[in-house]
Amino acid sequence: MGNNGCSALVLLYSFVFSLQLLHISNGDVSYSIPEEMKRGSVIGNIAKDLGLDVGKLSARKARVDSEANREQYCNINLINGDLIVAERIDREALCGEKVSCILRFELILESPLELHRISLQIQDTNDNTPVFPKEEIKIEMSELAVKGVRFRVNEAHDLDIGQNAVQSYILQTNNHLVLEIQSKSDGGKFAELVLDKELDREEQQEFRVLLTALDGGTPQRSGTAIVHVIVLDANDNAPVFSQAVYKATLPENSPVDNVVVTVTATDADDGLNGQVTYELSRISEKGRQVFTLNHITGEIKLTGPLDFEEESTYEMRIEAKDGYGLSSDSKVIIDITDVNDNPPVINLKSLTKPIPENISPGTEVGIINVQDRDSENNRQVRCYIQQNVPFKLVPSIKNYYSLVTTGQLDRELVSGYNITITATDEGSPPLSSSKVVQLSVADVNDNPPVFEEQSYSAYVTENNKPGSTLCSVTARDPDWRQNGTVIYSLLPGDVNGAPVSSYLSVNGDTGVLHAVRSFDYEQFRSFKVHVMARDNGSPPLSGNVTVSVFITDVNDNSPQILYPAPEGNSFMTELVPKAAHGGSLVSKVIAVDADSGQNAWLSYDIVKSTDPGLFSIGLHSGEIMTQRDISESDSMKQNLIVAVKDNGQPSLSVTCSMFLLISDNLAEVPELKDMSNDESNSKLTSYLIIALVSVSTFFLTFIIVILGVRFCRRRKPRLLFDGAVAIPSAYLPPNYAEVDGTGTLRSTYNYDAYLTTGSRTSDFKFVRSYNDNTLPADQTLRKSPTDFADVFGELEGSPEVGH
Ligand SMILES: *[C@@H]1O[C@H](CO)[C@@H](O)[C@H](O)[C@H]1NC(C)=O
Ligand SMILES: *[C@@H]1O[C@H](CO)[C@@H](O)[C@H](O)[C@H]1NC(C)=O
Ligand SMILES: *[C@@H]1O[C@H](CO)[C@@H](O)[C@H](O)[C@H]1NC(C)=O
Repeated sequence: MGNNGCSALVLLYSFVFSLQLLHISNGDVSYSIPEEMKRGSVIGNIAKDLGLDVGKLSARKARVDSEANREQYCNINLINGDLIVAERIDREALCGEKVSCILRFELILESPLELHRISLQIQDTNDNTPVFPKEEIKIEMSELAVKGVRFRVNEAHDLDIGQNAVQSYILQTNNHLVLEIQSKSDGGKFAELVLDKELDREEQQEFRVLLTALDGGTPQRSGTAIVHVIVLDANDNAPVFSQAVYKATLPENSPVDNVVVTVTATDADDGLNGQVTYELSRISEKGRQVFTLNHITGEIKLTGPLDFEEESTYEMRIEAKDGYGLSSDSKVIIDITDVNDNPPVINLKSLTKPIPENISPGTEVGIINVQDRDSENNRQVRCYIQQNVPFKLVPSIKNYYSLVTTGQLDRELVSGYNITITATDEGSPPLSSSKVVQLSVADVNDNPPVFEEQSYSAYVTENNKPGSTLCSVTARDPDWRQNGTVIYSLLPGDVNGAPVSSYLSVNGDTGVLHAVRSFDYEQFRSFKVHVMARDNGSPPLSGNVTVSVFITDVNDNSPQILYPAPEGNSFMTELVPKAAHGGSLVSKVIAVDADSGQNAWLSYDIVKSTDPGLFSIGLHSGEIMTQRDISESDSMKQNLIVAVKDNGQPSLSVTCSMFLLISDNLAEVPELKDMSNDESNSKLTSYLIIALVSVSTFFLTFIIVILGVRFCRRRKPRLLFDGAVAIPSAYLPPNYAEVDGTGTLRSTYNYDAYLTTGSRTSDFKFVRSYNDNTLPADQTLRKSPTDFADVFGELEGSPEVGH
């Protein structure tokens, strides 16, 4: 590099002119720059020269890559697309004597992978001075030497090339010698000293003149040596090499101590004058480390390791000298041949990490570069990955491969891959290497939570405590972290008109359902809610499930007697005809129980009676019948106390009194007033009794007529009021509402079916009570509601099932 102000100016000048773009073709670009440019100097705008979008350089991870582990001499500025100098570029260190010094780089862009070759031609600057091999050049001349005799002087060497190399020599003016410059075949110039005036040893034994070597650079640089001329007495011959150039070829990694080549020079003189010794006159520093010369024999031996990849050829000069110091030189060129000693190197240039599981097949997820430092076939590399992974290597540009997906990824199945990339070269034997690339698959919220069961059922006994646990639901979501975190909630809805949240709550984290209030089986027996499971992804995914809650009955209701009306409210009496025979139906106790099943299965029992032998009650029908014919001796007033008991555990019971009057005619009842012993004997009461008795008499008659008709039609002898009794609707408890059961409960749960005539204004409802399993198989209990429809059809139109 220039060392004064003028040279800096010249450098700038040459810089401006040399920065022309050499050529762009096929995505390749060349620049020519002088060596030794400052770090950060702009070489050119590569983005512009290649027509790249400057704005996308950064996103496309544009970078400059040097071939084979060489130093990175230049870089790209991602902001403006300038190619800049990154390291000191010393042409002499990089290329030595080579005339053309070209550095090659690659500009790599990703997505899609794009590769441009950059060649950087390094121009020489005159930054080296010519140097003579020795500071003093000894020349021995015979005093008999005639005018015109030539003496060769070893050339001065300048590391620069071309014009910047040695161009001329200047010899200090003297009496005997003149200078003549000779060009060598390789372009070098050396000086020859020509004797211009004969020497006379007696006059002058020795003398010194200054020899200057000049290069052709601007500014010019020079080096000097002293030519020391010694005038000799005798006439000697210089040694002569057997060859002008010795050549040898050696494979790299050859064993040391091998003789590579032997040089020989002969000298025509006898004795000491003919003894030739050899000396290495010029050799590179590297060469000095691996070759030695035997001074006596001229054998050149290998003493260090040879690496073709570092240096493929060595050149040295050998000087042969005889006893007088007369010398000549020769050149030795040793070529190193390549051996396949470098396995391919796999470089991971880029990798998408992690890979989202939803990327489409065929997406590039990584870029791999393979290099082999060997030459020719030894550097031809094949690259492949193992089977059974959804990835493949697609050869891209030059030594680049794209790693591409071949199928759909699913993190829930495989969350990561270890891919082994193997590269094998074509040397013999081939070398290969492999690299494991770890790929992880990133989660995408692609799985909604799924409940473990299709539906859930919860059973809870009524009168539960608020807050009690009903059941728990579980949904699974195989996604990762928040994408797989499940949160439970109730879907809005209503149960019997009230929001579902007033009945149930669900624990958002655990999915456990709690009752918010106490349930009453008599109000409703089951309901459905929808529980939603949602994950925490964005957007979230959800699933829902139906939870059916079944409330089971507890025996918490006593039987309720509808007929006769409870004691104390009113006072009822049944008339029993005197002529009644044994087995006649005289009345019926009608009771209901708001509970279900066993809890509502009622049994009737006469606990106390005026004449224990006279009346009996159907255990389950509540029908009061005469056990024998009525006789004259029987008391006219009969009083029964009937207990009605349900079958719950424990059972609940109530009692009622029934008054029976054995008489054909109300007129025969003078002591009617006395019937209610402790009751008020008011006139009103008497009227009431009379009214009721007549109503019930009419009622009985009416029934008997209908049954008679039916009996005649169907000849079903026992169709009494086993299963159905018509009672005035006024007797039904006002809140006695029917709630849906479900099919699954049909066989074990009891139904109370109300048969209503189509119109709401109807005065009659039909109560039917049975249990498929627990009641004795009395056919009449299995009558369908339509049977009743037949019976009452003529009167009230067709009934429907109030269910
Ligand atoms: C990949 O290799 C690493 C380290 O050897 C190991 O920890 C990891 O579990 C492997 N992954 C798979 C998917 O095999
Ligand atoms: C969840 O999925 C989304 C895409 O749906 C993704 O961006 C996010 O990284 C995922 N979260 C985790 C923790 O993997
Ligand atoms: C509940 O899930 C069903 C399918 O399982 C879906 O059609 C419905 O939209 C979901 N309801 C809600 C409120 O998410």
